[in-house]
Amino acid sequence: MAKPTIIEAFERAGQGHVFAFFDQLVPANQQSLLNDAAEIDLIEIGRLTKTLLSKDAAAGANLAGLAPAPYERRPEKGGDAKAWAAAKTAGEAALCAGRVAAFTVAGGQGTRLGYDGPKGTFPVTPIKRKTLFQVFAEKIRAVGARYGRPLHWFIMTSNANHEATEAFFVMHAFFGLERGQVHFFRQGRMPAVDLQGKILLESKSAIAMSPDGHGGSLRALDRSGALDVMAKAGVDILSYFQVDNPLVRGIDPTFIGWHVLRGSEMSSKMIPKAYASEKVGHFCTQNGQTIVIEYSDLPKTLQEEIDPVTGGLRYLAGSIAIHIFDTKFIRRMAKGGEGVALPFHRADKKIPSIDAAGNVVTPDKPNGVKFEMFVFDALPFAKNPVIIETLREDDFSPVKNAEGLDSPKTCTEDQLRQFVRWLKANGASVPTDASGLPPFAVEVSPLFGYDEDSFADAWKRLSPKPEIKAGLYL
Ligand code: UTP
Repeated sequence: MAKPTIIEAFERAGQGHVFAFFDQLVPANQQSLLNDAAEIDLIEIGRLTKTLLSKDAAAGANLAGLAPAPYERRPEKGGDAKAWAAAKTAGEAALCAGRVAAFTVAGGQGTRLGYDGPKGTFPVTPIKRKTLFQVFAEKIRAVGARYGRPLHWFIMTSNANHEATEAFFVMHAFFGLERGQVHFFRQGRMPAVDLQGKILLESKSAIAMSPDGHGGSLRALDRSGALDVMAKAGVDILSYFQVDNPLVRGIDPTFIGWHVLRGSEMSSKMIPKAYASEKVGHFCTQNGQTIVIEYSDLPKTLQEEIDPVTGGLRYLAGSIAIHIFDTKFIRRMAKGGEGVALPFHRADKKIPSIDAAGNVVTPDKPNGVKFEMFVFDALPFAKNPVIIETLREDDFSPVKNAEGLDSPKTCTEDQLRQFVRWLKANGASVPTDASGLPPFAVEVSPLFGYDEDSFADAWKRLSPKPEIKAGLYL
């Protein structure tokens, strides 16, 4: 049999070892290895191994000309109240016109949480134990009902969790959403390489592949046809959030309005860092462009630098992975071309693989590199990017770790604080500790109220008002 051309291409690229065991495989396994190989862009891998594995790559981020990025302060912090009000009106108009869709990236591996299953199926609410997916679904349903336009919801999965994610939605009848409004698509994968740039094999018939990072979502939105679905539906504003953050106002009229009124191609929310070394990306400017510098790339002196005017941190603006995209911008980024592409980042990892003799190796220190794209790296390519301030308690409490910071416990407590804040703002009396935490659990369904405004409206209509006590579910 003639050698498949793809094997020849791998040999020419110095990656022929991927097929070292090919002749020992049964035809089905040969095919699956060829399928893995067909996903790989050898030119891209060649370029990445040359740039990211070189000594210069270890030099760290370029900090020349770095400055904090400007952002729109909230009205109570000195921002322009009229501009914020105008933004809300514009955002509501965009929602009424059906221009907005929701987008959740759910392709991550969730290693830190250590939960067996797609992260979106993790239960998070205090009483009903609703899953992350259910919370988002109900928010999206409620927003659609409020503005008279059901929203499309795009969910990016990975190869590893795609089927399980779809099956979960089917099992729960799409949480009341129209089947045709929810769209799943897989993100791309990248092969892992060893420290010399050779592609690693997971087994004799499988390449060690992993998701290509949340930045891969831009390519995947294009490749999967999701952008075409949006164009057909008249959607040009895509509201991006991560699967691990149930507090997020995934569809926030005011944020949408800022994006629209500024003619922004990519907009972002910031929160003031809680302390200098908080592990969030920092919104900065460099050479007239907006960028996000990861905390690990920003020297401690800059993380801690004090602004002489405000007396607070100079690099204050933390990124919480909430963005809005113009769909044409996504298409432009996805198509790429000279100078328009998200860079890949290198992550050194312990990658179980097989050695040249076909023996399984379980490393105890990093033996290879995974390549990932980050969605915030699209910012420097966007026209008129706008960053607005939000309150942490209104938008950000992710479930990342099994315990400690950003864990199910902290997230549940933050939800409780939010529900109680809404109740108190509307005249209810609820006991709390100094941090705003009640001594008992209450829960507000997004279908009752998904943000301050919708809660206030629903509460006003509620008669008689319920007693606020343990187990209250609205
Ligand atoms: P994280 O950076 O927290 O990664 O993802 P993770 O994979 O979920 O968790 P760890 O690091 O293994 O513990 C932030 C968001 O980006 C999505 C995740 O699903 C989450 O919503 N993501 C991440 C993707 O969609 N694809 C990826 O390749 C990586």
